[in-house]
Amino acid sequence: MTDNMIAWDLGADRVLVLTIDDPSQSTNTMTEAFARDLTATVDRLEAEKDTFDGVILTSGKDTFFAGGDLNLLMDATPEDAPAIARGLDTYKAAFRRLERLGKPVVAAINGTALGGGFELALATHHRIALDAKGSLLGLPEVTFGLLPGAGGVTRTVRLLGITNAVLNVVGQGQRMKPAKALQVGIIHEVAATREEMFDKARAWIAANPEPAQPWDVKGYKIPGGTPSSPPLAANLPAFPSNVRKQLKGAPMPAPIAVLATAVEGAQVDLDTAFAVETRYCTNLICGQVSANMIKALFFDLGMINKGGSRPEGFPVRTPEKVLVLGAGMMGAGIAYVQARAGMQVVLKDVTIEAAERGKDYSRKLLDKALRKGAITQDKRDEVLGRIHPTADPADAAGCDFVVEAVFEDPGLKKKVFGEIEGLVNPDALLGSNTSTLPVTDLATGVQRQEDFIGLHFFSPVDKMPLVEIVVGEKTSDEAIARAIDYTLAIKKTPIVVNDSRGFFTSRVIGQFMDEAIALVAEGVHPTTVEQAATQAGYPVGALALVDEINMKLSQKIRRSLRENTIAEGGRWVDSNAYPLVDAMVDEYDRPGRLEGRGFYEYDADGKKLGLWQGLVEKYTREDHGIPFIDMQERMLFAESLDTARCFDEGVLRTVADANIGSIFGIGFPAWTGGVIQYINQYAGGLAGFVARADELRAAYGDRFEVPESLRAKAAAGETFG
Ligand code: NAI
Repeated sequence: MTDNMIAWDLGADRVLVLTIDDPSQSTNTMTEAFARDLTATVDRLEAEKDTFDGVILTSGKDTFFAGGDLNLLMDATPEDAPAIARGLDTYKAAFRRLERLGKPVVAAINGTALGGGFELALATHHRIALDAKGSLLGLPEVTFGLLPGAGGVTRTVRLLGITNAVLNVVGQGQRMKPAKALQVGIIHEVAATREEMFDKARAWIAANPEPAQPWDVKGYKIPGGTPSSPPLAANLPAFPSNVRKQLKGAPMPAPIAVLATAVEGAQVDLDTAFAVETRYCTNLICGQVSANMIKALFFDLGMINKGGSRPEGFPVRTPEKVLVLGAGMMGAGIAYVQARAGMQVVLKDVTIEAAERGKDYSRKLLDKALRKGAITQDKRDEVLGRIHPTADPADAAGCDFVVEAVFEDPGLKKKVFGEIEGLVNPDALLGSNTSTLPVTDLATGVQRQEDFIGLHFFSPVDKMPLVEIVVGEKTSDEAIARAIDYTLAIKKTPIVVNDSRGFFTSRVIGQFMDEAIALVAEGVHPTTVEQAATQAGYPVGALALVDEINMKLSQKIRRSLRENTIAEGGRWVDSNAYPLVDAMVDEYDRPGRLEGRGFYEYDADGKKLGLWQGLVEKYTREDHGIPFIDMQERMLFAESLDTARCFDEGVLRTVADANIGSIFGIGFPAWTGGVIQYINQYAGGLAGFVARADELRAAYGDRFEVPESLRAKAAAGETFG
């Protein structure tokens, strides 16, 4: 008997069940102890293989196996490279021996198996996944700036071919439900119950006494061909840009390394392919990008999604019946996510027709999900049945939570709250989805200002993962706790910020768009401006975003912001963007996508056609003299410096909120791990960032002025935040 964390249970039917159960953790991960135990188990399997006819590998936890130990991976530096490579090779060697045991090995995947856990399953001959609730399978390493380095890229390429492996599994890091994993081809069967899973495993073992992996069978060829076979060779050059497009701003080093591993590995024998994979993976693990991404997208995000910023001392309280005021674009989307989360929704607009239109939005999304097989007819009817469209204020009765999404007009917002405050439950939370208006002022429209809070959603609501919770001067801690409970219940990520005009996200994203528009005004071709943004890792071009948001709105917001800030004696620096925005709205009548005319042309359905050529004719100059890197860094620095000011002004409360809010709220490039990590990790550290900001200021103006707090930290050799 081994006394390790892999229990050995040989049945009378000569089927050996190995159950992985790390007693020191709630999930199994690739710790050093596990590596040792795995090797010991493989030694024993080889030594005792005459005693069993097959092996079922499963887990003693609810999940099958999580991946690598992210704490360990996050802290790795270039000096750790040899040890990291040795660690990867230890797994590779054990996995290889497992798949060449000469006896059938079946993975009975009883729950989530991601990353290293799924790589272990890939080294078995047959994979059966239990269709457990919430169970996810796949190789998501690339979303943390890594690649699956324990044979994951090499085996999926040999299993599915380069194209499928890269596009459907390793290049984007999809986390798949069992049915999807079956469709993609990374597992062989799905079982509805545990019993069925084990029965299937035993049946497969009985029917396949001497299995081999496809790549160990004589005459094996990689599906779809090698990189030199003509159809693949013709498509390969498009891969990097396709991967980048699909990843929408995810880091470049990891997807490119995945591609290189897949393509180089497909041209050599298996052992050499494993060595190629180890080399690329080690580089990623020891680099800064993966450290930043793991910190932000695993640890910070995990902490926030567990309610890490929630004030203590209040019982968890999720709403049962929510009043949504305004059934326009945002209200309709908010009604949908609430109904999906099981809440009753009263969707109110000025007319019943408008409210019905808002409900139709949910009908459309639900019907689409039904067609795709993602939900059943019953589920569709049940969710839709929770939304009650109305124009009658009396229907507000019994609501314990309000989300207001009428036009962005403070007078109107105060008026609609005034109308319903006495009708909803006496302790109903009063939330406003304003995108820019100070919450403290809006709260003066209600009696219970302590229950008033900003709930800033992003469009489209069903897709965007963030809610920015805005705390007014009088907002109570209990209201913050309830807003966080609500946000988590609708499966979104809450960041909490203090009140100010534009809060954190709307304010900082404005810097990004202004910089892009200024570049056009200074003579840069608009296409180059868009490329500067997307190649820096922003998910969409800045000018496309400007059109989406609409320049009439941004012009209005900027004018009032400018006026108020100057009146209050605050800091205001004009941008070259403003005259161009004013001309777009007032002179050329091209405010944005809504009107079908902006920086781009649109068809009647709002589909983007191409750039407005008049822009190029009027503004583009060959001799603008602005280097491409400056274009990118003007966008990144403008946002970073304004974020630093948000800290100084007390708008931002935590570094985690800043990093997560920047990635999910405003599309700050994910490879940076968020805006604060970008500032601190810039070449030369914070001092390097400050020096570069000074250069940008000298060349392009006071927008790049470094806040004193930041300069002081740089001088003291500290990090910001
Ligand atoms: P919208 O124009 O699509 O919808 C507003 C709706 O409110 C309309 O259906 C209108 O009939 C309704 N309405 C007006 N007066 C009303 C009243 N007295 N009672 C009930 N309903 C009334 O506007 P959208 O885009 O949905 O924006 C709504 C709010 O959300 C605004 O405050 C906006 O700033 C904010 N917001 C918008 C985002 C966006 O991307 N559009 C993003 C985040 C927040």
